[in-house]
Amino acid sequence: MKKLYIETLGCQMNKSDSERISGILSHFGYQETDNQKEADLLIINTCSIRQLSADKAYSQLGVWGKRKKDKPELKIAICGCVAQQDKDKIRKRAPYVDLIFGTHNIYELPALIKKIENNEKVCAITNVPFAENQNNFQINRKDSVNAWIPIIEGCNNFCTYCVVPYTRGRERSRIPEEIIKEAQNIIKQGFKEITLLGQNVDSYGKDLNNPNITLANLLRSLNKLEGKFRIRFVTSYPSDITDDLIKAVDECEKVCRYFHIPMQSGNSRILKEMNRRYTKEEYYNIVHKIRNKFDGVTITSDFIAGFPSETEEEFNDTLEAMEELELDYSNTAAYSPREFTKAGKMTEKFIPDDVKSARLERLNAKNREMALLSNKKFSGKILNVLVEEQTVKDNKVILNGRADNNKIVHFESEKYKIGDFVNVKINKAQTWCLYGEPVD
Ligand code: SAH
Ligand code: SF4
Ligand code: F3S
Repeated sequence: MKKLYIETLGCQMNKSDSERISGILSHFGYQETDNQKEADLLIINTCSIRQLSADKAYSQLGVWGKRKKDKPELKIAICGCVAQQDKDKIRKRAPYVDLIFGTHNIYELPALIKKIENNEKVCAITNVPFAENQNNFQINRKDSVNAWIPIIEGCNNFCTYCVVPYTRGRERSRIPEEIIKEAQNIIKQGFKEITLLGQNVDSYGKDLNNPNITLANLLRSLNKLEGKFRIRFVTSYPSDITDDLIKAVDECEKVCRYFHIPMQSGNSRILKEMNRRYTKEEYYNIVHKIRNKFDGVTITSDFIAGFPSETEEEFNDTLEAMEELELDYSNTAAYSPREFTKAGKMTEKFIPDDVKSARLERLNAKNREMALLSNKKFSGKILNVLVEEQTVKDNKVILNGRADNNKIVHFESEKYKIGDFVNVKINKAQTWCLYGEPVD
């Protein structure tokens, strides 16, 4: 067996891709290892959402390039979003790289790997449809409880700050039959949670020219599968959340009451500059609609601080939105200019770094405040928790898991194990997690 090491940066889509890459390569004699030093093949699966993530890819390649000097037979590959965009730059900065492959080319690995084993240098960056032969390969899933299923890749939205349409291409949905087959395998293997993935998961099916293929109907089909398991879906684009999707979440008992709906800014002018297809008021309406429908639902978001031309007042609208909507948690970031994007060219409107950092700091403070407020709402309540992890602290067995609404819950118990669903009465709320005790 040859040894394979994969370093994965970026979002869940990249993590899911890495599980598939590892699975495909296991058909060709590669076994994944956690120890880089013993690897025959090193792969870095990269992210370019912000400059910092892209920089990490190059510094890792630099370290690996030095290692190859002492071990010339070592193979180095780069894939993911930086690879898709930067093949010429990679060739120039890291000529020792053996294989560059794009976000669309994972299922071409069987042929690509043979070429690099014959000492060819290979670059495969082409636009191909979503591979429909995915179920023919092993998937080396990292988690034993939750399994990811990518259902739609790419993005048609072209938000002016974002590089994803350039790295992942246009939206491509997988056909429902393939997804359902993968879900059936997952359940058979004993997984207890399925997370459907897409850069815009709620656009699912739009490219398949069949009005019946929607995320709502896919949830309904998956919900009918036998077995005790949960279904989640991320990430939702606000204005693509249809009434039928909300209805499907309500109808389907296996689908979690949890929505991740990035707002990005609380100000309508900035949203327009970002090319987001909704106003502040429209986003508020979507959140109210969901909150009115489901008790105890959690709604999380993403926000960017310091988008080009953002004024102090406009930034304050973002803080206000987090507070008024009582958003349960938000991912936050300072705006990072990206190559190819429209906002990246608005150099004269860039916000100075110190102002961006100060705004990010305030965003994070508001986020902590809202997360604590959200968690406190669950004090005294009973949540159904899926156990994901077991640790031992001060001779006590502590189980960690997530509730249906994605809240992280810790409780002490020797009775339950990983993969169990347990009703837990919450008795303590902190900013990032809840504590409780099991109730029968
Ligand atoms: N498709 C999702 C987001 C995917 S990218 C959506 O439309 O909401 C994940 C997050 O990265 C985004 O929500 C955004 O908040 C952040 N992001 C993207 N580009 C960025 C940039 N140039 N600078 C800072 N943050 C960025
Ligand atoms: Fe990026 Fe916008 Fe597409 Fe999300 S919807 S991936 S933020 S371009
Ligand atoms: Fe990063 Fe690509 Fe995901 S840019 S966030 S790895 S889609």
